[in-house]
Amino acid sequence: MTANMQGKVALVTGASGGIGLATARQFAEAGASVVLSARRTELIAEEAARLTDAGYSALAVPADVTEEEQVAALVARTVENFGRLDYAVNNAGVIADRVAAHEITNKDWDWQISVNLTAVWLSMKYELAQMVQQGSGSIVNLSSVAGLRAAPGLAAYNASKHGVVGLTKGTGVEYAAQGIRVNAVCPGWVETPMTAEFGSDPERRKMMIESEPIGRTAQPEEIANTIFYLCSDAASFITGEAIAVDGGMTS
Ligand SMILES: NC(=O)c1ccc[n+]([C@@H]2O[C@H](COP(=O)([O-])OP(=O)(O)OC[C@H]3O[C@@H](n4cnc5c(N)ncnc54)[C@H](O)[C@@H]3O)[C@@H](O)[C@H]2O)c1
Repeated sequence: MTANMQGKVALVTGASGGIGLATARQFAEAGASVVLSARRTELIAEEAARLTDAGYSALAVPADVTEEEQVAALVARTVENFGRLDYAVNNAGVIADRVAAHEITNKDWDWQISVNLTAVWLSMKYELAQMVQQGSGSIVNLSSVAGLRAAPGLAAYNASKHGVVGLTKGTGVEYAAQGIRVNAVCPGWVETPMTAEFGSDPERRKMMIESEPIGRTAQPEEIANTIFYLCSDAASFITGEAIAVDGGMTS
């Protein structure tokens, strides 16, 4: 996609691979200064260096999004370095193996709820505080088709991603009059490290493709396109929405 984001500042969590990395690249190529965050310092530092060498503006800031102090420091460093925060993409997420709901361990429940939902709220807490001061901003949270409908064997993931949609709708409305938009993207199957192991089994791969009316899985860039659009001024009248990018799966 093309849009001129010169002078704008974007923050992407979970930017070490998959959808987050594709999104960070798109912001950088559009001229925005981009902060890539994830826990693995080397991966984001290498990518930030690659982008900088290519003439773009990028900074790597490691953070575990479940740790409030690290999230606060991440937003603070973004503002210290680039002066503001225009776009925040709360993308970091995890998924546990499929098991029946009564067999989910407390540890796996807490892990998925904490990374996929509580950390999105924690991130928004600091992002919104900055955006309220500026009187502008756009946030995109990563939900999933599992945030819109049932995903058997994934009750905790299901609950966390439905939670993200609720949080997005609530805050989208709450901050609309302050010039801040909040939306969610709900992808279907995407080829990323998250799905690589699951999709390496031929039976499961067949199921993935058959569940997509479009007849294939998505590339991370196809999800990044919608995230980018929702952040951009082209989406200036869209807020509190959860948009499926799913090859027709939930239609
Ligand atoms: N791949 C899919 O099919 C798919 C479908 C629907 C929704 N999603 C969602 O899209 C988002 C991105 O997923 P992806 O497929 O690119 O997966 P991925 O595993 O490639 O990327 C997830 C990123 O989150 C980071 N992360 C995990 N826990 C973290 C933590 N505590 N602190 C900071 N970073 C952390 C990982 O290191 C990684 O960079 C996730 O929220 C996921 O649930 C993915």
